[in-house]
Amino acid sequence: MTQRNRVGEARSTDAGSTEIDLALFGALGDLAQRKLYPALYHLDREGLLDADTRLLGLARQALDREAFQARVQSALETHVKGAELDRAVLKRFLTRLDFLQLDFTTAEGYGAIREWRQQGLLRPMVVYLSVSAKIYGDICRHLQASGSLDEQTRVVVEKPIGFDLRSSAEVNDAIGAVFPESRVYRIDHYLGKETVQNLIALRFANPLFGTQWNQNHISHVEITVAEKVGIEGRWGYFDEAGQLRDMVQNHLLQLVCLIAMDPPANLDADAIRDEKVKVLKALKPFTDDMLGRDVVRGQYIAGTSDGQAVPGYLEEEGANTASHTETFVAMKTGVANWRWAGVPFYLRTGKRMPEKLSQIIIHFRQQPHYIFDPDQRGLAANKLVIRLQPEEGIALEVLTKDSGLDKGMRLRRGPLHLDFNSAFPKTRIPDAYERLLLEVMKGQQYLFVRRDEVEHAWRWCDDLIAAWADRDEPPRRYPAGSWGPVASIAMITQDGRSWYEDY
Ligand code: BG6
Repeated sequence: MTQRNRVGEARSTDAGSTEIDLALFGALGDLAQRKLYPALYHLDREGLLDADTRLLGLARQALDREAFQARVQSALETHVKGAELDRAVLKRFLTRLDFLQLDFTTAEGYGAIREWRQQGLLRPMVVYLSVSAKIYGDICRHLQASGSLDEQTRVVVEKPIGFDLRSSAEVNDAIGAVFPESRVYRIDHYLGKETVQNLIALRFANPLFGTQWNQNHISHVEITVAEKVGIEGRWGYFDEAGQLRDMVQNHLLQLVCLIAMDPPANLDADAIRDEKVKVLKALKPFTDDMLGRDVVRGQYIAGTSDGQAVPGYLEEEGANTASHTETFVAMKTGVANWRWAGVPFYLRTGKRMPEKLSQIIIHFRQQPHYIFDPDQRGLAANKLVIRLQPEEGIALEVLTKDSGLDKGMRLRRGPLHLDFNSAFPKTRIPDAYERLLLEVMKGQQYLFVRRDEVEHAWRWCDDLIAAWADRDEPPRRYPAGSWGPVASIAMITQDGRSWYEDY
């Protein structure tokens, strides 16, 4: 049974229990409306939110509780599919909400958070910072000074954490002055995607792959994270960041880690994160000669998307027409250790690509001795295609004999295909934020990024950013709706390979 305690003595939750209260800074922001309320609603609908869990929305704007509830209701009506919007659950969810107007950067007013906690059951509080990282430190300090925290309060922070190694260390120091690392949950929402977690199951539960997963059997790895959208009204933010900071430093490097890491001793958060850090430390550093050959920066110009004309990056609303910020990056890198020596990792990610597509292709080596039709030699290797989104699934390309009396021993390439939607038709694939919020509530950190991961990722990116700044070359142009600059195709074809296009 739950019981009332004083702040500072909130009782512990069992691992796995979701008895928490949630304080959400940035409660009227875009992320909250598009992702966080829908995710919490779904958890409620699935019976995964404790009956007494309450949510305090915090924002600068003046709003009363009813107006806030109406805003959240409207967000849910917009962002939850009609068939999944259960009116009884919606009503229950809205009764969990309270609202507090607060200027986040001044100490005044924070006492009201302590009072809000005292009105409830004093269970552990999750503080979610869906605001700029520049004010994470202020918020943590004021929360502490106001007596709103106890030794079980967890803090959730969103990327981007800083702009480079130095600024990320400052942000992490400010958080760390109040919260120990064991209660800091840094979100990389890719880790919440069901298919990304599946990489762990695929690699470490299947002996078939376990034995093959190294440079003896894999020739190269390809990761594409393509987005169809452009900048979507975020020009100011994006132009300071660029695609390397926005996507590679976090999402793509996390995928590289999950593909390249050694098996952890168990599924504990630190066992997994220790292995990921080893990969980040072993990433091949950039050298001058790699810059022109193995790294391509692009920026989209006007083109088409879904048959409609769309503007170029420099013509988007609010654009500075002299910007050299990249909206596309392709690179050839590697992990310098025994498992991956000599195996290139080709990465590419961009905005305004022809489709939204995230996939990883593991290219296995060819047989050491080939006995079939010499013309078909190029076919003769297996590929594992891991489709992260959309149409989540896994396909293993295998070679079989082409059927028919006239075919002799001709080979045919075809997939052994596991499509998650049709294999598990009754299971809704949850959004990444549902999984992540659930894990924070349960106090499990394995899907969150540890401070040293963030810092090693920055260290590696910082070198590249510095080299780009030294060269000060404009990015290569590519038309919106294409797969990026031609140079990104040349980058891989110079190795006698090509980007994998068919699924
Ligand atoms: C975010 C980036 O982290 O990820 C965005 O800031 C990007 O620019 C988004 O659009 C992509 O996420 P997803 O889940 O749609 O692949």
